[in-house]
Amino acid sequence: MSKHDYSDVLSALRKLVGDQHVVTDPSELQVLGCDWTKIFTVDPLAAVFPATTGEVSAVLKFCHKNHICVVPSGGRTGLAGGAVAGNKEIVLSLKRMAKIEAVDCVGLTIQCEAGATTQAVQEAALAAGLFFALDLAAKGSSHIGGNIATNAGGLKLIRYGGMREQVMGLEVVLPDGTILDMNYRLRKNNTGYDLKQLFIGSEGTLGVVTRATLRLMPKPRNVQVACLGVNSFTDILGILTRCNQEGVAITAFEFFTDIAHGIVLKHAQGARTPFQERMPFYVILEVEEGPGQASGVMESLLEKIFAEGICVDAVIAQNSTQFKELWSLRENITESLSAHGHVRKNDISLPIDQLDSFIAELEAEIVRSPKDIEIVLFGHIGDGNLHINYVGPNSSDKKDFQLKSRQVEERIFALLPKYKGSVSAEHGIGLLKKKDLKFSRSEVEIKFMRALKNMVDPDGIMNPGKIFE
Ligand code: FAD
Ligand code: MLT
Ligand code: ZN
Repeated sequence: MSKHDYSDVLSALRKLVGDQHVVTDPSELQVLGCDWTKIFTVDPLAAVFPATTGEVSAVLKFCHKNHICVVPSGGRTGLAGGAVAGNKEIVLSLKRMAKIEAVDCVGLTIQCEAGATTQAVQEAALAAGLFFALDLAAKGSSHIGGNIATNAGGLKLIRYGGMREQVMGLEVVLPDGTILDMNYRLRKNNTGYDLKQLFIGSEGTLGVVTRATLRLMPKPRNVQVACLGVNSFTDILGILTRCNQEGVAITAFEFFTDIAHGIVLKHAQGARTPFQERMPFYVILEVEEGPGQASGVMESLLEKIFAEGICVDAVIAQNSTQFKELWSLRENITESLSAHGHVRKNDISLPIDQLDSFIAELEAEIVRSPKDIEIVLFGHIGDGNLHINYVGPNSSDKKDFQLKSRQVEERIFALLPKYKGSVSAEHGIGLLKKKDLKFSRSEVEIKFMRALKNMVDPDGIMNPGKIFE
């Protein structure tokens, strides 16, 4: 497309959403065309900010007609490059569509526009005496639309499920501008294919999510949190087994290594370790005392865990300040790693009972890996999701670090097929893991996915190059 054509495109877009809602300033575009990954080329043509579903539809109709590619964009906290625009695409941001539209306290639902942040939805639910279950450290910035497009997992999946389990209805605009209204509020609806599921986790490659109805629930009662110091990974799985067998409602079961802990203590403001002595592994265990249960669920659970000798030390939060302090040791890992050095992220998942054997193989790979790359483990281990982060010193060359850490990553990914594991539990494939899809999806599955993409977006204008070419 020539410069002349660009100016025609921009003036058409300005007519559709208003002059001030089309951004072309190069330095602003470097931010708007990028997500948290910050390793890919960023070069969008413009960013547009529609205010209504009708405007989203009009923008897509225009782009479809003129073969212009579109990258849907939410809070840009994605970790797979899904919201990166590197080839003169239009960034379509949902930022101006952030209304919380209705909270239904009888049917337990909340309806909002896709640009509402996770935290805004959580707060609106709490204000109505209810609870929205998806939770992640990026809650202040991540959008509901982004959570839906990535099928975000987060910190409470073990109890409440991920984003998919929270979605009751969806409104989506298809690549040609057609509005597909699937925004029902029905708990039960067996009337043919459940089309909304196709868009959840589709990473913006099939359409733009503009509105959603989400599931709410009564607030959990008396939630308690503890940080446990543990000697081995095997003991972590022993603790999870004990929790399961005691009939306790676990609302979170997260882990991190002492290397991750040290990095948080170094970089997160006000962070302090709750223990006298450091240990190789830590678990953040959150439980809910259910109705009819005697108080002290956490204490009696920990007594049993200590009696088995699978936990060295534990601290239970005694008040809301300590509750936040213990959680911050886990929630601050991502930001602290970024402050520490160059980071390459991945988020694999395995059947939980295979984690032990996998970790043994992983340890052998860690020993073989270059000495200037630190391997930091943490994650949602209660649901089989392990975050393996490769970290290199800021003083090292960024490209060289990416190359070297990629070699380690490839060896680790190659271990996954025999466990029927996944190269992405929750962050998605985006640009980052396109080459790795083959490690967790068969040729038949990939062919089926491509056929769906071609059916919904035959011209390939919707987030091109994400998931697959
Ligand atoms: P973006 O980054 O803007 O976009 C992500 C993808 O969704 C892109 O492919 C984009 O094209 C598409 N998209 C965005 N909006 C729409 C829309 N309206 N319609 C169609 N497609 C759209 N993820 C987890 O799963 N669990 C975690 O615990 C977690 N913790 C995190 C903690 C930190 C500190 C950070 C930085 C990230 C974390 N993430 C986590 C990753 C990220 O926050 C999630 O993937 C989040 O859901 C992305 O939402 P977003 O609005 O920022 O999306
Ligand atoms: C997390 O669990 O904290 C997120 O998925 C972010 C990350 O992997 O760094
Ligand atoms: Zn995670």
